[in-house]
Amino acid sequence: MGLSSLVDMVNSVPGATSSSVLGPFHVSNPPPLEIGGDMRRDFEGEVVLVEGIVRDIDGAPVAGAEIDIWQTAPNGMYSSQDPAQDVHSFHALMTTDATDRYAFNTVKPVSYTVPNDGPVGQILDAAGRHPWRPSHLHFIVKAEGCRDLVTEVFAADDPYLDEDTVFGVREDLVMSYTPQPAGSFPDGFTMSGKVPGEYSRVDIDFKLARG
Ligand SMILES: [Fe+2]
Repeated sequence: MGLSSLVDMVNSVPGATSSSVLGPFHVSNPPPLEIGGDMRRDFEGEVVLVEGIVRDIDGAPVAGAEIDIWQTAPNGMYSSQDPAQDVHSFHALMTTDATDRYAFNTVKPVSYTVPNDGPVGQILDAAGRHPWRPSHLHFIVKAEGCRDLVTEVFAADDPYLDEDTVFGVREDLVMSYTPQPAGSFPDGFTMSGKVPGEYSRVDIDFKLARG
């Protein structure tokens, strides 16, 4: 189970954002989402504003980058695992603007267990390991002239951060969710969808390798 993570580590480019596990829950043709858009739909949970910039490893702006985003619903399941969810729930495709920024709001993803009722469960049992993964957002970031980045970003306060069952955590992929007072939106951002009370903000900047 650590093999795909080992391959990620070998393929990571120094100076670029670390790559991490793709996992089995990505869907093709995710729905487009405008910058500042709402991935929450009608789900309840801790509201999070996710925002950042896309640059290359020399710090040059990368405009027009495509960011493919996916995560669990608050019940810990991806849409493809959960008949109650639309296939595109918590999946989105965002394109950065000329300022190389992106932003969206969502509900905070939760820790979840990998499916452990088959061979994977037997391997975990044999190794004396649990099936939990810490809360994370999945991203694939693509831009012309740059190498595709497949990665995940983890919540710094998650209890499973140091014991991810698929070894996906890298130090530069751990981010803090910072509490924000109700009604304040930083840097001129507004929040589409239902306006929350208190919410959290997480800044995630991506650095892509050229080539
Ligand atoms: Fe995941």
